[in-house]
Amino acid sequence: MLVKNPKFEISAVNSKQYPNTTLPEIVLSGKSNVGKSTFINTLINRKGLARTSSEPGKTRQINFYNIDDIFYFVDLPGYGYSKMSKKEQDKVGKFIEEYLFSRKNISLTILIVDIRHNLGENDKLMFNYLKNTGLPFIVIANKADKIAITKVNSYLENIKKELEYASVPIFPFSSQRRIYTEAIWLELQKYI
Ligand code: GTP
Ligand code: MG
Repeated sequence: MLVKNPKFEISAVNSKQYPNTTLPEIVLSGKSNVGKSTFINTLINRKGLARTSSEPGKTRQINFYNIDDIFYFVDLPGYGYSKMSKKEQDKVGKFIEEYLFSRKNISLTILIVDIRHNLGENDKLMFNYLKNTGLPFIVIANKADKIAITKVNSYLENIKKELEYASVPIFPFSSQRRIYTEAIWLELQKYI
């Protein structure tokens, strides 16, 4: 999809702040630093629209990006950011849960994991949580550029095994290797 006019719209920490709209929302979740915000920038082909950082814990609120008045990307704060106090982690967990539980606009939830690593405890919790919401759900195995192209399939297989071959589609991705972008857009378009 050729994106023409993507706009950051609002950061929210409660439902009163969500955009007043019925446009579909595609939600990005995953651990801190896995590349959620970068994923948005890569797909819309804008370097700095979503704020990213090499340090985990960059995104602290629910950020809504209006993509050409067609749909929204919703960028969630990552979990597992150890420098965040327990109290703040609880607060963030609560507003994320409120969003996922109450928002009617959600058309697809995406869990981003690191293709190289075994899933962490929090990844598994999030996976099960999202699966149980009954919302449309896919997994993206990110940072594929960190492994040889010839090994991508075997790493994907490892993640599938870790997810006990649950019936959730899994796609490789990399913000540096552009070859995966088209397949992701084709998938996202089913939900827009
Ligand atoms: P939080 O906001 O803390 O939850 O992190 P995030 O998931 O939004 O991560 P972010 O997009 O800020 O990226 C974290 C770091 O990973 C940055 O240094 C990115 O450049 C890097 N990164 C993101 N995607 C990729 C990728 O596909 N390949 C590689 N090699 N690095 C990536
Ligand atoms: Mg982020």
